[in-house]
Amino acid sequence: MSYDFNKKTQKFKNKIWIATPTMHGEEIKYINLAYDSNWMSTVGENINEVERIAAQKSEMKYAVALCNCTSALHLCIKSAGEDLYGVPEIGHGSLEGKRVFCSDMTFCATLNPVVYEGGTPIFIDTDYYSWGMDPNALEKAFSLYPDVKLVVYAELYGFPGKIDLIKDICHKHGAVLIEDAAEAMGATLNGKQCGSFGDYSAISYNGNKIITGSSGGCLLTNSKDTADKIRKWSTQSRDNAPWYQHTEVGFNYRMSNVIAGVIRGQYGYLEEHISLKKKIYDRYCEKLKGYPVSLNPITSGTEPNYWLSALIIDKDYMCKQSRTDSTYEYVPEKGKTCPMEILEAIYSLNAEGRPIWKPMHLQPIYQNNEFVFMETDIGADIFERGCCLPSDIKMTEAEQDIIIDTIKSCFD
Ligand SMILES: Cc1ncc(COP(=O)(O)O)c(C=O)c1O
Repeated sequence: MSYDFNKKTQKFKNKIWIATPTMHGEEIKYINLAYDSNWMSTVGENINEVERIAAQKSEMKYAVALCNCTSALHLCIKSAGEDLYGVPEIGHGSLEGKRVFCSDMTFCATLNPVVYEGGTPIFIDTDYYSWGMDPNALEKAFSLYPDVKLVVYAELYGFPGKIDLIKDICHKHGAVLIEDAAEAMGATLNGKQCGSFGDYSAISYNGNKIITGSSGGCLLTNSKDTADKIRKWSTQSRDNAPWYQHTEVGFNYRMSNVIAGVIRGQYGYLEEHISLKKKIYDRYCEKLKGYPVSLNPITSGTEPNYWLSALIIDKDYMCKQSRTDSTYEYVPEKGKTCPMEILEAIYSLNAEGRPIWKPMHLQPIYQNNEFVFMETDIGADIFERGCCLPSDIKMTEAEQDIIIDTIKSCFD
């Protein structure tokens, strides 16, 4: 059975997306600067400024501007792998034959670079109370695989989770921590910025993020040597020689000066975007009070950036649903609902929501990888009962109220 579309009377003329870019005009000034100065390449003032601002805002000493966060994560992982296990022969990855502990409930870009480098991701279950990696499951993983030396942690939807505990556990076991703060720029834990917890970190300026360049990312580090090495790798590993000379394999991962112009213009609006996202989150919380749902959990000491609001339905109020890898079914039931019914209802308004990230250990590509969990599979449960809600900062309160009423009507 699927959602009864006749239940709805209102439909938005302009689609309300889950999260889109919000431009302010200053971006054009810096794009024009690139154009007028003819620095339409991967060199220029905008790039230098993005690196300066990103490092300052993230409370890390150095930022390296790259074409996206996935490439930043790749170079974090390659660099960490080489530091831990030595430089591999040409044609081999730095993590060949090595296990790496990775967040499970995240976007695949967090950990695909482990595979680019020949490593094997071991997925660590999610903490029900923070929706980040479970510190207990990570401890368990270290007891099962004490030889593991690398952990990749992702903040989910702009909510920091327990990254401080994860960092302590990593240090206790002599492991390097890579922080994927793609979704969490500007969020803090105990006043410390997300992106500053990792030995290496990465942030994203993808079109749907809290601020954007349409694409782009930065690698963050406190080591000048690492920053210089990454900058070199990202520009085809060109040696300092009068001709094109290479002693290492390189990548074409550098940020464009035009994209950097957009990001430079956006940075001044990061705090404003966060406060608008918070208003959206608070409104969902306030207006859904009394309904058997909860919004993303906020861990004590954290100040999220509220990038995506998501809800989870109480267990007793879930109608029957089943999913295969590409299809779903549910049985509508009075007083109960499920994520796909809510999402269908949202789609019927001409708005966009999404299921929660499907956990990596359930992905066809990774389902044979090891998965470390405590008593029950928390990630699967959150995926089963949760969905992301429209969180675009251009959505009006009146539009959000219609969405909220529609969510409520799913329990009718
Ligand atoms: C958690 C997470 N990591 C990494 C990425 C990859 O970022 P990018 O698109 O900038 O490569 C994204 C989103 O795109 C993400 O949500």
